[in-house]
Amino acid sequence: MTLRGKDLIGIEHMSEMEIQYILDTARPMKEIISRPIKKVPTLKGRTVANVFYEPSTRTRTSFELAAKYLSAEGVNVSGSASSVSKGESLKDTARTLEALGADVIILRHPMPGAAAMMAQTVPFPVVNAGDGAHEHPTQSLLDLFTVQEVKGTIKGLQIVVVGDIMHSRVARSGILAFKKMGARVSVCGPTTLVPPGIEELGARVYNNLDEALDGADIIYVLRIQKERQEEGLFPGLREYARLYGINKERLKLASSEAVVMHPGPVNRGVEITCDAADCKQSVIQAQVNNGVAVRMAVLYLLARGGEASSVPVD
Ligand code: CP
Repeated sequence: MTLRGKDLIGIEHMSEMEIQYILDTARPMKEIISRPIKKVPTLKGRTVANVFYEPSTRTRTSFELAAKYLSAEGVNVSGSASSVSKGESLKDTARTLEALGADVIILRHPMPGAAAMMAQTVPFPVVNAGDGAHEHPTQSLLDLFTVQEVKGTIKGLQIVVVGDIMHSRVARSGILAFKKMGARVSVCGPTTLVPPGIEELGARVYNNLDEALDGADIIYVLRIQKERQEEGLFPGLREYARLYGINKERLKLASSEAVVMHPGPVNRGVEITCDAADCKQSVIQAQVNNGVAVRMAVLYLLARGGEASSVPVD
C-alpha cells in the first residue's frame, strides 16, 4: 500500500487498512522521538507549510515538530499575519505556496470543506488540520494510536463521547474512526448539543450521562465549542458541569479499567474536573505526545511513501 502524494481530508474517506497503516508507521516514529537527539533525514529537502486560520496549540506545534524531526523545512502562515487579511483568497494562498515550493500543506480553516477545496487547487498533498465542525482526522488517528497503545486493541471497546457533539469536528472524525476500527460508540450531551441524524454515523445517543457511562471503556470528553455556538443552547456552565461534567465519582460508573481522553484544550471545571483530568486513568498527556509521532507518520507517508517496516531510523 502507498499513500504517497495523497491528501488526508477526512476519516470518512479512509479504509480500516489505511488507518492501521498510518498507526503502524507511527510506532517507529515514536521510538525516534524518545531518543535524546530526535532527528532523522527522512524528509530532507521537503517543505511543509502550516497554514492556520484558527488558533491552535497542539496541532500546529506537533506538525511543526514532526516536520523538524524528519528534517523537513517548515513555514508558518497564520490568517491574521498573512495576505489573507488583505483579501487574498484561499485558492490564491494555495497557488502562492505552490510557487514558493511547498511539498505539503497542513490547513486549519473555519470553513467545512476548505481542505478539500485546497487539495483540488495544488498538485501535492494537503492535510486537513480541522475544517470548521466537519473533520479533524489527525486528531482521531492520534486517539486511535493512544487507545491501541493502552488497550492493545480497539475492536469491541465501548467508547462514550461526552459533550458538545454538535459543533465538534473531533467528535465527527472520532465516531467514524472508532467505528471503522470495530468499537461500539455512544454519544452523550444535552439534546441541543447532539446533532439530529448522528445515529447514521453508527453512534447510539444518550442524554443521561450516568446511563451512558455504564461499563464504558473509553470516556472521550469534549470542550464546549463556544466559538461555533449560538447563545442559549444550554442553561449555563455550572448546570452543564453538574449534568455533563466528568468527575472522579462519575468515573466509577464506567469500567474499572476505563480510560479518560480529551483532545484539548481542556476547560477545567466545566467538562471535566481537575481530579479527573489528572487522574491515573487519564491519557490526555499521552494523546498530545502521540500527536507528534502520528503526524510524523502522516508527513512521511504522504510526502515520501514507503512501508512501515522501512521507516529510516537514522
Ligand atoms: N486538539 C486540538 O486540535 O488542539 P489545538 O486546537 O490546540 O490544535
